[in-house]
Amino acid sequence: MTYGSMKVLNHFSWIQMKNKRKWTFVALTLTVASSIYITWPVLDTSITPCSALVSEQTITPIINTNHLMVSAYKDNRFKGITRIIGIVKRDQLQPLYCIFCCHHSCSKGYLAHIDMHSDHFGYPFATTDLLCRSQPLRNATHVTISTHADILENQHQSFLPIRNKESAASFPYTFTVCVSNLFGGYNNVLQFVQTMEMYKLLGVQRVVIYNTSCGPELERVLLIYKDEGILEIVQWPIDRFLNPSKGWNFPEHPGDLHYYGQLATLNECIYRNMYRSKYLLLNDIDEIIMPYKHVNLQLMMENLEQQHPGVAVFVVMNHIFPKTQFDDSGRFKLVQWQSIPGINILEHIYREPSREGVFNPSKLIINPREVVQTSVHSVLRTLATTVTVDPALSRVVHVREPLQGSLTKDQLHVDKRLWDFDLISKVDDVLRKAGLLMS
Ligand SMILES: *[C@@H]1O[C@H](CO)[C@@H](O)[C@H](O)[C@H]1NC(C)=O
Ligand SMILES: *[C@@H]1O[C@H](CO)[C@@H](O)[C@H](O)[C@H]1NC(C)=O
Repeated sequence: MTYGSMKVLNHFSWIQMKNKRKWTFVALTLTVASSIYITWPVLDTSITPCSALVSEQTITPIINTNHLMVSAYKDNRFKGITRIIGIVKRDQLQPLYCIFCCHHSCSKGYLAHIDMHSDHFGYPFATTDLLCRSQPLRNATHVTISTHADILENQHQSFLPIRNKESAASFPYTFTVCVSNLFGGYNNVLQFVQTMEMYKLLGVQRVVIYNTSCGPELERVLLIYKDEGILEIVQWPIDRFLNPSKGWNFPEHPGDLHYYGQLATLNECIYRNMYRSKYLLLNDIDEIIMPYKHVNLQLMMENLEQQHPGVAVFVVMNHIFPKTQFDDSGRFKLVQWQSIPGINILEHIYREPSREGVFNPSKLIINPREVVQTSVHSVLRTLATTVTVDPALSRVVHVREPLQGSLTKDQLHVDKRLWDFDLISKVDDVLRKAGLLMS
């Protein structure tokens, strides 16, 4: 078995053979082109007493390395392997060991399989799955990654709780939005509140947001949505560990890690919500995956599932609505919103045309139970199939700076889809609660 190799594991099937007291695990991995066999080393089931420290943080360093651990999930789809989502320094891979613990017993460590995601956009750090085969401890509650096989050699290493221990077939939510990364003191309050209220009208019951930093007014709004129960805020202090890039293109926006660790948070969000939500929408904070033929996401997904049975990844094309072009009628140029920081998305009804030969980014609606690894615009590894959604059914509405700034209004498409929904009084209620609107 080699370390640091990037093998494309599309599917695992695990054969367990009981040999007296020892278990041997053989992972059969299939790739598109050829089959690769990994033979795991024989598992030592001895147990040592230990006092395991437990990490309460979203980001936990692996001691004696530059690598970071994010969270640990049992993956019930692959015979109970444990997947630790991490961020590793690509050129500094060394043998890393999985150590499980339960109460005050720790297992002897064994080598983790390092499965680096293929997308890292050239940055020195990459999102990586650290895979631990079935547990040597029957009821392990925590796991960690260490540079030593023996935890007593590294007693300061914190353990992570193992989540998703039980699978489920029904879920508390139908639609959850994963918003990767809030950073740079983001304070686009008006667009955020309008977007949240639109999600609610579309049938979204839950939004998960990864917070590195935000502005003072947005902070108040986030707390209102958190109290309401719709918003889960995961603290994401990646800037305390690395120098994250503000962009996605290494030469243009240098740094240690692509876009504040967006790839790690998107993958984390999939596993966090695997048994909590039927569907996940993976998009940025300034994007809305809008149905164009249906009044809500539920009806649209019923229609899409009927058309495409067995599909688990629905790719929706992104469309830019330049914030520099305003509706002439002034219908939504409301006095009470003039002093609210941020963009009024209802005023921006002009949509840029798609260009021949220019990559048109997309965002995703997925069934998380069928996805193993994701990137931003497409999934990296899935157990099911992917389809691109007809723009007549759905588009990502993305109000931002123009990409084709030289186009005049008559060269842009008029698109008033957002106007079909009644947002004003709902937005005002939230702004009032946040103390940003005079009553
Ligand atoms: C594991 O947990 C179950 C339920 O909590 C318990 O009944 C069982 O005895 C435990 N097994 C071991 C090996 O500790
Ligand atoms: C977001 O993160 C910043 C920086 O850690 C923190 O000051 C702020 O309180 C957080 N906001 C929320 C709503 O969690």
